[in-house]
This record gives sequence, C-alpha cells and structure tokens, in this order.
Amino acid sequence: MHAPLIITLRSGIAGGRMVYIGVGGEIDEQVNPTLQVHEGETVQINLINGEGAEHDIVLDQYAARSGRVQAKGASTSLVFTADKTGEFIYFCTIPGHREAGMEGRIRVLPGARTAPPAVAQDISRDPTDLSAPLRGRLPQTVRVDLATVELKGQLADKTSYDFWTFNGKVPGPFVRVRVGDTVEVHMKNDPSSVMFHSVDFHGAIGPGGGAEFTQAAPGEEKIVTFKAMVPGLYVYHCATPSVPHHITSGMYGLLLVEPEGGLPQVNREFYVMQGELYTTKPFGTNGHQEMDYGKLSTERPEYFVFNGAVSALTKAHPLRASVGETVRIYFGVGGPNFTSSFHVIGAIFDRAYEGASLLSPPLQGVQTVTVPPGGASMVEFKLQRGGRYTLVDHALSRLERGLVGFLQVDGPEDDEIMHKGAVMPVSRR
Ligand code: CU
Ligand code: CU
Repeated sequence: MHAPLIITLRSGIAGGRMVYIGVGGEIDEQVNPTLQVHEGETVQINLINGEGAEHDIVLDQYAARSGRVQAKGASTSLVFTADKTGEFIYFCTIPGHREAGMEGRIRVLPGARTAPPAVAQDISRDPTDLSAPLRGRLPQTVRVDLATVELKGQLADKTSYDFWTFNGKVPGPFVRVRVGDTVEVHMKNDPSSVMFHSVDFHGAIGPGGGAEFTQAAPGEEKIVTFKAMVPGLYVYHCATPSVPHHITSGMYGLLLVEPEGGLPQVNREFYVMQGELYTTKPFGTNGHQEMDYGKLSTERPEYFVFNGAVSALTKAHPLRASVGETVRIYFGVGGPNFTSSFHVIGAIFDRAYEGASLLSPPLQGVQTVTVPPGGASMVEFKLQRGGRYTLVDHALSRLERGLVGFLQVDGPEDDEIMHKGAVMPVSRR
C-alpha cells in the first residue's frame, strides 16, 4: 500500500500573468512548475486559491479534474493514478485563464519510486484529557493556543489517513472558560501545512465565530479575541473551504463556557466527540486511505469514530470509573454531516442537558440524546453497578463502522440491581 504523492499548487500572479505556483518541496515558489511523478503512483494535486479569482485544474489525458475554487484560501484537489508514462499538460479551464498563463507540464516517469513511507501517529484524544473545573472563579482573560497540524495518523489498526488537527489530536483540545471571560485565541498554522486553516467558535458572537479573522496560511499565526457571553457547551471547528473536508479530517473540538458559580461537582469528567470519514476504499481496508470528495459531497461515509480513530475508546483510552461515582460526559458531534443518537448501553442518564443548554434545567431520566453536527450535549449519571458499559450512537449500523467506546466501572456487580436468572429467595440475597 502506498500513500498518495501529494503535490500542492496555489494560484497567483507572476510577471503580470495568471499562473500556478508550487507550494513546498522542490517546486516551492516555482511558476507553473514541471511536476515529476512515477509510473503507478497515485497522485493528488491540491489547488489553493491564492488570490481570489475562480480557478480549477485539469489533466485532460487522465480525465482528472478538480472542483472550482472561488474564494481566496479555498482549496480543491484532483486525484489520478499515473498509469500512462509521458509528458502531459495541466491547466485551468476557466475561459481565458489557460491563455493568460495557467498551464504547466507533468512528467510521468517509467518505473517505481523508492521512498520510505511516513509512520502513522496516534491522533486519538484521551477522553480524560481536559482541564480542571473553574469552581466559580471571577471572569478573567484566557489565552487559548491552537496549532493546526496536518499529519499522517492512525485511523484504525492497519489503516492510516491524512488527518488535519488542532494540536495534533482529534478532537482538538477541550477549552474551558467561564461566562464573562475574554478569550484570546492564538491560531498558528504549522509551517509544514499545505492548507490554509481557521477556527469558528460556536460559543463566540461575531463574524464567522472568529473564522473571518483567523484564516491562516502555512506558517502564519492569527489572533482573535471574543467575549464568552452565554454559558453552554459549544463546538469549534475549522471553517476554511472546503469546510466539510477540514472537519471530516479532524478539525473540531469543544469549548465549555461555565456558568457563574460553575457546574455541579462530579467525580469524573470525560470528553468525547463523534465524527465520520469518507475514504476512497471501503471500511476496514488496510493501508493508507484517501479522502473521497464524491462520497463526502453525497454523504456516504465509510468510517464513524469517537475521538478520531476506530478503537480510540475501546483499546487505546477506554473510560474508567468506580461504583458510587458520578460521571459527566461532554459529548459533541464534529460530523460534518451525521446526527448522533448518543446512548450508553446499560445506563440511564440521570441528567441530560439538551442542546448542551446550561440556561435551561436538564432533562432527567433519559436513555438517548440527539446531538446534531455542530452541536453538543452534557450527560450525567451515577454509577450504580460494576461492569462494562458501552458508548454508542444508537444508529447501530455505525457500530460496525468503528463507532463504539467502553466505560469500565470497577466495583461490585450488585445483584439487587441486576442478576442473571429469576428473582432470588430472600435467604440468598
Ligand atoms: Cu482547516
Ligand atoms: Cu459551525
């Protein structure tokens, strides 16, 4: 299995002509660079809109064609397998652009390339990786550092994927502030990135939730400051076109705005988010998986995951607690497209904060909560009996596509609450 060869171009102006400009590697800053690939390689050419006019890129002889990028910073790709050797032309099909200078050559060389494959990293977020409750402190200014990092990560045991992340994990860091805080977000797009990135906080009021002020090119840092006005649990996500591509690749997280006085104390808090991935090859295929634009735009995912990867919450980081403890799960859906029917098999939520509203009283005695993409919920329950509980989306076909987590509860398996077989005689209790 081979990862695709990724080549990135951006549109721009050079010498008064409209051109493609190489981004990164040997072609960095070259105008209409000649691209060299090897026979048999899968090649993905990313096109970033560098100046704001509408563009695309096509390779006629391979019938490979990207979508159109219409706004500055927007991106698109085309993918093809280099099965014909020779020299071919890539160009922009917008009327007049090819004539204005937007064309270059791609050379497909005979024979395979020999290159070491990059190692896939663990990108799954530990659900206990969240900051401590604020316990009703006074409002203050909080600095939040987000680094947008693109990396080859492990989607499943033997499957990798090119994740785009906030701070290297999926979901991004759990951000906790209180109502009245001033939040200063520093978003740094890693110099090794090929894409623009940004961040939209649903818990912020203002243009694009901050996305308008944070569109950052590779290597750039952007800062936006907002006031946390309304308590609640909110999704944040990258909002750089194509937005669903950035979200499905892992760019989402949660912001908790605690109410004045804080939240009720619990023994344990967990951070869980759901997302779905649209890979070219079917669920369960070993090797490197690429994002499939066709499946993404028609909402036909292959993978559903909690915290970024298959088995993130079963093998890598199962949730753990003890009988008698009260737990709270901060649950959000990055999506980009699928609503979750979040349920814990074998448990009942004592309290569920519908829509993650902290201004309304919680519902009590709830089996399943509905959480839409770009939405969240908080559930709380006391652990009454030892054993293993299972986190699912009750749209259970998704369980067989990777969507499952465990809550391991230590302590007595109290027969009063449940036991195998018929009611026991009093003497045996
Ligand atoms: Cu992004
Ligand atoms: Cu949004």
